[in-house]
Amino acid sequence: MTKLPTRFRQVYDQVYKKNNLFGIDQKLKPNPLLSKDKRKNSVAVAGGMLGDEGKGRVTDELTAYFLRNKNHNKVIHYRDNGGANAGHTVEVGEVRIALHQLSSGVLQPGCVVVAGKEMVLHPEDLVLEINHVLKATGKKSLPATLVIDEMAFLCLDTHRAFEAVLKMHSRGSKGATGRGISPAYADVIYRHPLRMRDLVSRNWKKKLEQHYQLYQNWVKGFGYELAEIEVPRLEGGNIKLGTLKQMTTRLERSRQVLKPYVKNVYQLIETHWPKKTPFVFEKAQALGLDRRWGVYPDVTASNCGFDGLLSSTEGLVNPDEIAVKCAVIKATYSSSVGARQLPTAMTGPLAEKIRQDANEYGATTGRPRDIAYLDLPMMSYLFEVGQVDYLAVTHLDISYPDTPIKVCLNYQIDNQVVNYRPDQNFLDQVEPIYFELPGWNGQEAAEAQTIQDLPQQAQQYLAFISQALKTKLLLATTGPKRKQTIRWW
Ligand code: IMP
Repeated sequence: MTKLPTRFRQVYDQVYKKNNLFGIDQKLKPNPLLSKDKRKNSVAVAGGMLGDEGKGRVTDELTAYFLRNKNHNKVIHYRDNGGANAGHTVEVGEVRIALHQLSSGVLQPGCVVVAGKEMVLHPEDLVLEINHVLKATGKKSLPATLVIDEMAFLCLDTHRAFEAVLKMHSRGSKGATGRGISPAYADVIYRHPLRMRDLVSRNWKKKLEQHYQLYQNWVKGFGYELAEIEVPRLEGGNIKLGTLKQMTTRLERSRQVLKPYVKNVYQLIETHWPKKTPFVFEKAQALGLDRRWGVYPDVTASNCGFDGLLSSTEGLVNPDEIAVKCAVIKATYSSSVGARQLPTAMTGPLAEKIRQDANEYGATTGRPRDIAYLDLPMMSYLFEVGQVDYLAVTHLDISYPDTPIKVCLNYQIDNQVVNYRPDQNFLDQVEPIYFELPGWNGQEAAEAQTIQDLPQQAQQYLAFISQALKTKLLLATTGPKRKQTIRWW
């Protein structure tokens, strides 16, 4: 183990030798969500590392907080990027359902769930998800109000088929979820995307035909037949994409179901942003998967940062005005699905134990997730470029009293300290330098009801991490149940 670099030594000495917790043992005062300097009642949440940090739990808690306040009769829960590549599981009574394109706000009456302009939506999967929610709640309509931006892009089976072909030809696509995300965004750059408004328009069949033809030609160029390519289904397994007629028939059904939800979201935001209506912005995926900041080439195609809200709302929402910009991380480790090779990858029995204890298997693909040590150089970079100011920490129960927590403090190349760079070739060369911090009894953390109930080592760890990342703590979760949540506001 290494000597502590100077910039961490002071914090370490304060926290671990003097038990100075930098205020994390107190609630935040004043409540930052009600900040007068920013747009009151607004909060944005992003994944702080490589996805699957538990953003759904955090946005759920925030939405419920606003809805409990009698001054508000609605909360706008706005998501603006990604599509069926995302995934989290929610519990409705005894039933567990996986949500991909819908955010968890869909289960809360009073919530207006917006699928925003820069999402790439797969209509058939979306309808299935809506049906799952209806079945689980036993209702004829969704608990929340769903609004789909008429300008949101379509992500169709053609995109999934093309991605399947690309996977055989390009290294960059290897880790992708196979949900067609990157080809759907590429259509936007090529300036021929299909949008939700096209799907619900009268001449949609003509537009679909042109689109199908284009993809058929492209795929033929690689030596494949579009109709024969297998594409994944939400329920698991694959189907052959089929002919234009078959694809049209499948889409016809979804189109009818989705039509009533397709609206002008610009007007909705224009009306509510200048008022006090609470807004919870949810960025899908994570800062470390963003096409600019992630481990290139295994990145997703969308903008996963708060800055994306400026473009998806066409300038109506300036991210600098949002009262709280919060990144979510897992407390003692991070996880990754895809083809990237992390310098801090953890192998051996501890990785397997964490995978089992925290159920680290993909909600979208079921793949076992890679487990890695906490990587401060990468996180510091992501938090800096992502303009993060608050921190939510999940899985505080994943710690073992006799196992120190290894944290990567620096990278080195030839004994020189280097920063994180968003590039796999570069990261292949770095040597992570670790330091060990004391672990705690995860079971004890799981039972904590208040900040003060947390084991002292957990409090110290939170103080150290939040100082190292120059953020303030907003929330921590100590287990999978909703009530296992500790709030700092
Ligand atoms: P794509 O988004 O399907 O293009 O996949 C690009 C990369 O992002 C792959 O490494 C995926 O595994 C990863 N990825 C995309 N969405 C998620 C997510 O919600 N959680 C974790 N990884 C994701």
